[in-house]
Amino acid sequence: MALIDLPLLMKDKARGKRSAVTCALKCASQCAFGPCNHSDNPTFRDIASSALSRRTVLGGSTAALAIALGGTQGALADPGKGNGHGKGHGHGKGCGHGHGKSGALAPNGTKLRFEAIPPVEHSVDEFTVPEGFTWEPVIRWGDPLFADAPEFDWNAQSAEAQKQQFGYNNDYTEIQEIPGSHGKRAVMFVNHEYTNENLMLPPETDEDDFIEIGRAAHGLTVVELERKNKNVPYSYVQGAELNRRILLDDEFTLTGPAAGGDLLKTVEDHSGTTVLGTLGNCAGGLTPWGTLVSGEENFHGFFRTAATSEADARYGLADRATARGWESKYDRYDARNEGYENEPNRFGYIVEVDPFDPTSTPRKHTSLGRFKHEGANIIIAEDGRAVAYSGDDEAFDYLYKFVSRDTYIEGDKAHNMTLLENGDLSVARFSGDSPAGEIDGSGELPADGAFDGSGEWLPLLVGGESTVAGFSAEEVLVHTRLAADAVGPTKMDRCEDVEPSAHSRRVYVACTKNSDRGMDGNAAADEVNPRAENRDGHIIEIDEQGDQSSTTFAWNLLMVCGDPAQGDTTYFSGFPVDQVSPISCPDNLAFDSVGNLWISTDGQPGGIGYNDGLFRVSLEGEERGRVEQFLSVPRDGETCGPIIQDEDRTAFVAVQHPGEDGEWGAQNSYFPDYAGVGPKPSVVQVLPQRGAPGRH
Ligand code: FEO
Ligand code: CA
Ligand code: CA
Ligand code: CA
Repeated sequence: MALIDLPLLMKDKARGKRSAVTCALKCASQCAFGPCNHSDNPTFRDIASSALSRRTVLGGSTAALAIALGGTQGALADPGKGNGHGKGHGHGKGCGHGHGKSGALAPNGTKLRFEAIPPVEHSVDEFTVPEGFTWEPVIRWGDPLFADAPEFDWNAQSAEAQKQQFGYNNDYTEIQEIPGSHGKRAVMFVNHEYTNENLMLPPETDEDDFIEIGRAAHGLTVVELERKNKNVPYSYVQGAELNRRILLDDEFTLTGPAAGGDLLKTVEDHSGTTVLGTLGNCAGGLTPWGTLVSGEENFHGFFRTAATSEADARYGLADRATARGWESKYDRYDARNEGYENEPNRFGYIVEVDPFDPTSTPRKHTSLGRFKHEGANIIIAEDGRAVAYSGDDEAFDYLYKFVSRDTYIEGDKAHNMTLLENGDLSVARFSGDSPAGEIDGSGELPADGAFDGSGEWLPLLVGGESTVAGFSAEEVLVHTRLAADAVGPTKMDRCEDVEPSAHSRRVYVACTKNSDRGMDGNAAADEVNPRAENRDGHIIEIDEQGDQSSTTFAWNLLMVCGDPAQGDTTYFSGFPVDQVSPISCPDNLAFDSVGNLWISTDGQPGGIGYNDGLFRVSLEGEERGRVEQFLSVPRDGETCGPIIQDEDRTAFVAVQHPGEDGEWGAQNSYFPDYAGVGPKPSVVQVLPQRGAPGRH
């Protein structure tokens, strides 16, 4: 049938090695149409020449920066260290990779000790964990959530059943213990970014079912978990009190300065304050007050528009049939319809959900701006205000920071739940401290031995008022990309998760990749995005220098990713490149209880050739930059939503789009049950085997 064929028709347009189906279903083949950011805002090189004077103004000499960063940058003290290529290391794929000596060491004293696994070839349909560990699915696509929800049946799917079952393509995942349960009960929040109808449904599926089952598999899930004790895996509890599915026709309340404005009104919502559903939810974060925030990312792929406005073009909204064809049935997905022109303006926000109140109305916060939010992560600043960091995950788009107007009050959840409704929004401009001529796009370190420098948060909205000439406050928050273009932020290599460490208060930014960097007239490599045709990504470390609400910061690159054994130019903060697990395309970030960084990846198969996985990275002392692979997900899958509970020696990941390159009748993956039927995206727990039977 025509609709389900659409993604496959996109094959010719997909670039790079990523699955054409992924491109079509996940981000509407955005890369096929080139970068959305054609703004001529000042490039990094243009401002690099003024970097030294700016750093002087900020008091940020190189020596001062080294001190500010806690003396953790070995490379600063030893210029050039760690810039090797790892050639001749003798690493054979799948046969171990310099990890042997690290297993017994537990960085920073974490209880989660493991021997790093070797990378796993991308054709392997297995979930791989370290020796002595096992894994169990906690919940799978289609698992019934409510007391009378039907069991999943591959051959008798319906929208009504799917609405009562766990959705597809779990991404951001968070687990909070239910108070008073003594570690035996928890509530889990999961979002469902998009659907793979090619794997889910037989090609002969009725067109209406194709649309409705797909829609019902999107949205959000809240579900309770239980376990007898910490030595056994969690199971989800069907019919539990907090279980909830938030679907595409459920109401969200818009908050903040843009709510109620003309840009957000439609013929179905004259108030401009109530939106049905959330789309493209990707990463997210746990707020200090116990709610969850989740980012609406590739929302543009769900809408067809007249594409006559500059704003539509800037967001990739187009006058093209969408991959799923919902606009053929619902007027609101076709913004060409009179009265629906603003419907796409109502997506692209940070949403907030209270998992402990099943009757609460989820909200979309316009204060944090509208873009392809990967997610948001929040830390309370020294002055008590809530600070949220959020990346716009598109090639050459920007990094943002929100600082709340009001301050956090410990224990006052109702008050704290208003913090994201009003505040200041800014966007990052990075300056490097090395001469532009030393950043040649190869990824080789400059002469000072570090990719580093200073930065500014350029204001977009302050005190509820726009600071951008020609933009109202409402326009700043709805057409945020256009407003940001006007102030000259740094064009980035796809900022995914941006996560502040509660231990060091430094902020980590996963730049996943950008194959267009320096290509076809696009922005050239610069010190913070130092590699042309960036296939493997990098991680930025930001230091707000004791004031999280500051308008300036210091930064350096923690790592430049890749596989040293394959000759990639990499950098791991000076740690020997022949002693790290190869890593590419960093996506989601998390921390363990002692401050180690954990990174999950999305896209390794198309670059370094291994399945995606979860990696631990030491951040302090001589171990800084040591990367150790903890797990590997099955074929075509992306590793999402890591949760590290190292005190209990356990971790969780969401396996998204396993077997994505397959199709109904010719599946590529049978994860997680391996029972002869196709894959189910699932949340998995990894824990010590402790002699119990299990998978390993
Ligand atoms: Fe949905 Fe940016 O990954
Ligand atoms: Ca430098
Ligand atoms: Ca992501
Ligand atoms: Ca991703």
